[in-house]
Amino acid sequence: MNSDPNAALHDQLAAAAALQHAGQQPTWPDASALGSAVAELAAYPPLVFAGECDVLRTRMAAAARGEAFVLMGGDCAETFESATANNIRERIKTILQMAAVLTYGASVPVVKVGRMAGQYAKPRSADTETRDGLTLPAYRGDMVNDFAFDAAARVPDPHRLVSAYHRSSATLNLVRAFTMGGFADLRHVHDWNKGFVASAANARYERLAHDIDKAMKFMAACGADFDAMRTTEFFSAHEALLLDYERPLTRIDSRTGNPYVTSAHFVWVGERTRELDGAHVDFLARVRNPIGVKVSAKAEPDDVVRLVERLDPSREPGRLAVITRMGAGRVADALPPIVERVRDAGASVTWICDPMHGNTFESSGGYKTRDFDDIVAEVRGFFDVHRALGTVPGGLHVELTGNDVTECVGGTHKVLDADLATRYETVCDPRLNHRQSLELAFLAAEMLAADVTA
Ligand code: PEP
Ligand code: CO
Repeated sequence: MNSDPNAALHDQLAAAAALQHAGQQPTWPDASALGSAVAELAAYPPLVFAGECDVLRTRMAAAARGEAFVLMGGDCAETFESATANNIRERIKTILQMAAVLTYGASVPVVKVGRMAGQYAKPRSADTETRDGLTLPAYRGDMVNDFAFDAAARVPDPHRLVSAYHRSSATLNLVRAFTMGGFADLRHVHDWNKGFVASAANARYERLAHDIDKAMKFMAACGADFDAMRTTEFFSAHEALLLDYERPLTRIDSRTGNPYVTSAHFVWVGERTRELDGAHVDFLARVRNPIGVKVSAKAEPDDVVRLVERLDPSREPGRLAVITRMGAGRVADALPPIVERVRDAGASVTWICDPMHGNTFESSGGYKTRDFDDIVAEVRGFFDVHRALGTVPGGLHVELTGNDVTECVGGTHKVLDADLATRYETVCDPRLNHRQSLELAFLAAEMLAADVTA
């Protein structure tokens, strides 16, 4: 038995790991390099503090009761190269703009969570990729290998685990500076949103923007100038996919003696790795963070209940979010039985809609894309299902960027099939661009406002 509590915890996690199947892990060719990388991570400071994770748990609990609304957003896959000040700033700006609109629509606080500062590992449908007769290991995210289709670049390199930690640390540092240092001032955010609706194409959102403007002027006239207008809480999240990264970043909280994964405030297990007796679910069951599980239309309602039993046996408010990604065409039939079974099992999970992952298709030009209208339709379907069942729609989980990319088709500033080639920059799934993200926020805010006044 190791007397250092963290070393003892890591021994325990390693022992458990030896007994379980872990899907979607790379085959590291160099075991000793992996050992050094893991040891290095285990010695680094945590990226987040356990107390912050506890705060997020209370925020998630509020969202489960309808007293807050969660907005999670960011890249499908962050890359080392794209972790620049400009990109991070534009993404934060987009999330803050969306959150301001949603706050008004829902009349409750919006809990802002970035799918960032650690979203560097991806599950893949195949272990290899073949192009023009050449077969190489699949790209598994910058934490594992390089996107370039080149034999050397695709070799999994454990040193990338350490690089991912440093990029995440730098990203989170800037996020904290932006959200606490004045950039997030609600008055600036509101001015940015006025710029968005000023364009003729967005005239249909003017009414909502006008109402928000009146509320802002009312607050200003009252002399309202409080901290919550100048700064905002902001949390980090990613899929806890690569266990060689997550396990060494797990720590015992010295205040409570409980284990937390300190790579992010919130982590989730993906649709492809949520096996009930697999390593990912076991890992999440052992940490105290607020956590999520992604669920598609293929999930059996009973399996979802089993996951809830395993991940939230004590039915702790805010502990577990179920992130549903049914597809626009399936949400109306596939979501209700899942929500009903979970509700009837006495669980009060936070229901979050991911309108992205059930709506991906290949464009005629061969790009992986999503149609803005399908994304909106799934969000609408999600709200409809929860309204019909009397359960609470707790939030949205969106793949987005603050940049003007052309990856998803549609939106008022219509991105056409033929435009996809112009700025298709994602290394994994297609993201909403800045305008499409704001438009989604306005539409979702209208849906939420209809519920508030109903
Ligand atoms: C993702 O969020 O990028 C992802 C892979 O999602 P899912 O697990 O829902 O397929
Ligand atoms: Co994705």
